[in-house]
Amino acid sequence: MKITFFSTQPYDRESFTKYCADTCFEFVFLEEKLTERTVFLADGSDAVCVFVNDCLNEAVIRQLARLNIPLIALRCAGFNNVDLKAAQICNIRVVRVPAYSPHAVAEHALAMIMALNRKTHKAYNRIREQNFSLNGLLGFDLYKKTVGVIGTGHIGEVFCRIMHGLGCNILAYDPVKKPEMEKMSVSYVAVNTLLPQCDILSLHCPLNEKTRYLINNETIAQMKTGVMLINTGRGGLVDTRAVIAGLKSGKIGYLGIDVYEQEEDLFFRNLSDQIILDDTIARLMTFPNVLITAHQGFFTQEALGQIALTTFDNVKQFLAGEIPVNEVKVDD
Ligand code: NAI
Repeated sequence: MKITFFSTQPYDRESFTKYCADTCFEFVFLEEKLTERTVFLADGSDAVCVFVNDCLNEAVIRQLARLNIPLIALRCAGFNNVDLKAAQICNIRVVRVPAYSPHAVAEHALAMIMALNRKTHKAYNRIREQNFSLNGLLGFDLYKKTVGVIGTGHIGEVFCRIMHGLGCNILAYDPVKKPEMEKMSVSYVAVNTLLPQCDILSLHCPLNEKTRYLINNETIAQMKTGVMLINTGRGGLVDTRAVIAGLKSGKIGYLGIDVYEQEEDLFFRNLSDQIILDDTIARLMTFPNVLITAHQGFFTQEALGQIALTTFDNVKQFLAGEIPVNEVKVDD
């Protein structure tokens, strides 16, 4: 069973090799992103293993079918980068890793909130320059603040529990309400009821046609002035230009993003000796109240191990002729 991995980093190679005891697997680790131009590199494979910014549009999927590759194994939870209809037509199965560590991402959302609020990144730099002044570092208590959570699935639920532990009031929107969340005093409300009340808004829903640009000029106008917006979901949940306008007007007081609409051209690479041509992220990087991380929410030891183990299970179920429990279908 030959699996070609696209978009790999040293840590991917390490964890997949470490957790694979099964000698029937042969791995080809590529640094290249999967695109129409690189898909030929999978020739001779039985499966491709891909990540968040690999492109699995109709053209790529048709080429995979021509190469007789029957399986796409996503080593991530989100599947917005896969044309599921095309995969179904080409009879290619798609599997994913739905919940490798919801704690990893929820804790990263908290880390962003803490850093933006108490400005620990600035304090760290100041102290290194022997600047012990507190001016400009004023934060606020999280206790009793109202936190809005969009999406209370695996990650959103852990995030609600963390914020509940800090003494925050939690309002949530999710088309599927969880009784256990309601028992923990999470109030499910409509988005337009939630937005005007939140001091902090955190996005944990998938990117799909209903959620694309969920945060736009209109929804930003409904928010509290000075709101903190955290996005560890997917870049496309947010209209970045609208957010920049919100930051300029002061409507948005803080922005923490671990994902970005055009991240596939930037994230997971060291571009420190290059000119950034994306003027939108370049503008975002100039705001003192914006914290950007490069899609590292998932990046914990526990999550990497779980991603490898679940991916192997998915592939083994497929090989055994079973319907993989983590298969993604058109209606998902
Ligand atoms: P999940 O599938 O467990 O939960 C998603 C929740 O969103 C579900 O409860 C669903 O009912 C809800 N939802 C669906 N449509 C919605 C809508 N229109 N409005 C509000 N809620 C809606 O997914 P999980 O594991 O919690 O992950 C959430 C998202 O986080 C993923 O789709 C992915 O995009 C992102 N993610 C980001 C990572 C990172 O490293 N930054 C890592 C893993 C996931």
